[in-house]
Amino acid sequence: MTQSNSSSKKLLGVLIGGSGLIGGTLAHYFKTKTADNIELRAPSSKKLSIRNAADIKDYLKRVRPDFVINTAIASIGADSQLSFEVNYIGTLNLARAAAALKIPYIHISSASTLPNGENLTEEDCLPIVPKLNNYAKSKLMAEETLKYMHKTAGLDYTTIRLAIVYGEHDHKIQGFHRLFFSIADESMPLLFTKKNILHSYSNANKFPYFVHHVLQNREEFSGETYHFADKEPVELANLILTIRSYLELKSPREIYVPYPMATFGKNILEFLLKGLSRIGLKGGLPPELIFLESFYKTQTLSSEKLRNSSFIDPMPNETIYTKLPELVVYYLKRWTHENLISTFNETVLHSDAMANDFEQSPVELIDTIHQDSTKPFEELLDL
Ligand SMILES: NC(=O)c1ccc[n+]([C@@H]2O[C@H](COP(=O)([O-])OP(=O)(O)OC[C@H]3O[C@@H](n4cnc5c(N)ncnc54)[C@H](OP(=O)(O)O)[C@@H]3O)[C@@H](O)[C@H]2O)c1
Repeated sequence: MTQSNSSSKKLLGVLIGGSGLIGGTLAHYFKTKTADNIELRAPSSKKLSIRNAADIKDYLKRVRPDFVINTAIASIGADSQLSFEVNYIGTLNLARAAAALKIPYIHISSASTLPNGENLTEEDCLPIVPKLNNYAKSKLMAEETLKYMHKTAGLDYTTIRLAIVYGEHDHKIQGFHRLFFSIADESMPLLFTKKNILHSYSNANKFPYFVHHVLQNREEFSGETYHFADKEPVELANLILTIRSYLELKSPREIYVPYPMATFGKNILEFLLKGLSRIGLKGGLPPELIFLESFYKTQTLSSEKLRNSSFIDPMPNETIYTKLPELVVYYLKRWTHENLISTFNETVLHSDAMANDFEQSPVELIDTIHQDSTKPFEELLDL
């Protein structure tokens, strides 16, 4: 699929994981920005589970797509069997199907495949060893098998490694949004990091533009791995304190909890939760705590290969800091509506006139709506 033939024929793609943060952003982009020349089908995991090779074969035989994008993952804290089946076997099955159909396969991977360190390149990766957590191990194995299938079966694939993702529509509150949530919820009393710990961040809004570009330029991107991350890394403590000031909160206080104390506290909590589960009280720590060590170690991804590619950043000035005000409003509204948080200063959010009227003056509201907004939709009248 080269740039020239992609513009002449309407393409049909299959997106796996369309209900997730990354998949949802891709689905929205292809629906609103490329609808005339690219159509994307995003079957739910109930309709097509990538754990099941027969599901994949049946679905792809029926749909006959021009490309496949895989954003599916088992939840971060999933056990070894589920992580293996979704993150590794699922990837393998999709790649085998794509190789048979001779179509591009775009695979989303993660910085969890990388060691700690600065300016890590696409060549870097952790060794595959038993003691790795299930997420990192399965993602690494998937990357390795895709490279192997490129060499041995001619698989036309691109692996895109994401760093810590920020963006709207994270319904599951994971990764960066979990950190943000614990600040908004005031459940982070102190800073669980050190000074000068840097990480890379990936912008979910920009990501679909890159995937689109990668699909249009197979010659350049086939058989390659790319880091998709903002150019400048971000200091974790500074980011947390900036979010705190946006939310006008006092916590977390600027006291740095040393790593040994943080792991001790985590172990105690795990012990207590185990005890409680014996008397029927179920509870759990956020699965992101498997990455607790990362809060104390720098990991930055080089984006040089991305910047030297033919891809042009559609929003070069957008970073996690410029995006924060929007994210604060979006997530505070969402979490308040879902009754997940209630403690923050409501003036941080702009008041919504319609919602206020619904609460305070329903009769006036219904009168206004009857006068202005009850005509049948004109654009549907002729159908
Ligand atoms: N979010 C981040 O900060 C981050 C950072 C680095 C890399 N990444 C990578 O980005 C990709 C997408 O992550 P995300 O944050 O968007 O994940 P997510 O929000 O947890 O979404 C995961 C998706 O996978 C689907 N899925 C799970 N099991 C499946 C199965 N057996 N068959 C088909 N679909 C299945 C889920 O569908 P259901 O909801 O129906 O189960 C959901 O749509 C992953 O490869 C991840 O490693 C994400």
